Amino acid sequence: MKVLSLFFFILATLVATSQGFSCPSWRLGMETNNIRGKLVPETCGDYVKRYMLGPLYMNDSKAVTDEALLYAKSQKLAGDGKDIWIFDVDETVISHVPYFSEHGFGTEPINGTSFFEWMTEAKAPALLYSLNLYEDLLSLGFKVVFLTGRPEYLRETTATNLRNVGYRTWEQLILWSSSYPTNTTLELYKSNERRILETNGYRIIGNMGDQWSDINGIDPGNRTFKLPNPVYYSA
Ligand SMILES: *[C@@H]1O[C@H](CO)[C@@H](O)[C@H](O)[C@H]1NC(C)=O
Ligand SMILES: *[C@@H]1O[C@H](CO)[C@@H](O)[C@H](O)[C@H]1NC(C)=O
Ligand SMILES: *[C@@H]1O[C@H](CO)[C@@H](O)[C@H](O)[C@H]1NC(C)=O
Ligand SMILES: *[C@@H]1O[C@H](CO)[C@@H](O)[C@H](O)[C@H]1NC(C)=O
Repeated sequence: MKVLSLFFFILATLVATSQGFSCPSWRLGMETNNIRGKLVPETCGDYVKRYMLGPLYMNDSKAVTDEALLYAKSQKLAGDGKDIWIFDVDETVISHVPYFSEHGFGTEPINGTSFFEWMTEAKAPALLYSLNLYEDLLSLGFKVVFLTGRPEYLRETTATNLRNVGYRTWEQLILWSSSYPTNTTLELYKSNERRILETNGYRIIGNMGDQWSDINGIDPGNRTFKLPNPVYYSA
């Protein structure tokens, strides 16, 4: 058996090295923070489109939210209203698949103007498994904080979008304030806002995002969860 396994391993290695670029491997690299700040390679455009529109994206999301719920249920909350769960917004609780369907699924640089126009329409659908998790967390007694890199002037449109698709209440909705120098990284901004929450007595039991900048940095929370997003990377 061992000899046979070794044979297949060597065979697979030879086949793989003769095949060139692998889009699933590229996606894994992106999700694990090995590949950073790159556009989706042109050759993987169709692959990413099929991933996002097919069942695998939702299956991968569910694997994350299932695990998050197991963890959340295992926690003993103090019940003083200070136990919070942080969610990022874009590609974490709502989805821009309808936008990216029209804009190359990450193979084109994001056009800030048209992307903000789309956000302003407040039409982004909910990510179903995140919405289910959100409801379960509220039932368990968590307070929810949304922490997003969206600029402060999108507050109303963001709140409207969240409410329209089922996120009916929250403890805080934190958006990027113009008091941050423009060269501040998302990771630094989010770290700073989490530090402020903890200073105000909140305990970050869970923290979920689709970007490493949502969950890296200081005070990340007792446990972090990374949802899939092969379409874009923001540091
Ligand atoms: C998605 O999950 C279902 C089970 O819930 C499974 O039957 C199906 O094969 C999965 N699809 C993919 C593409 O992984
Ligand atoms: C970006 O989007 C805006 C608004 O839709 C459009 O007017 C502009 O031409 C686009 N820019 C590029 C470089 O595609
Ligand atoms: C950001 O810009 C300010 C000046 O506006 C500069 O002092 C600071 O060093 C810059 N920070 C980084 C991380 O580049
Ligand atoms: C949760 O995180 C806080 C702040 O980092 C820490 O003080 C606390 O011990 C952690 N709780 C558990 C159960 O790990």
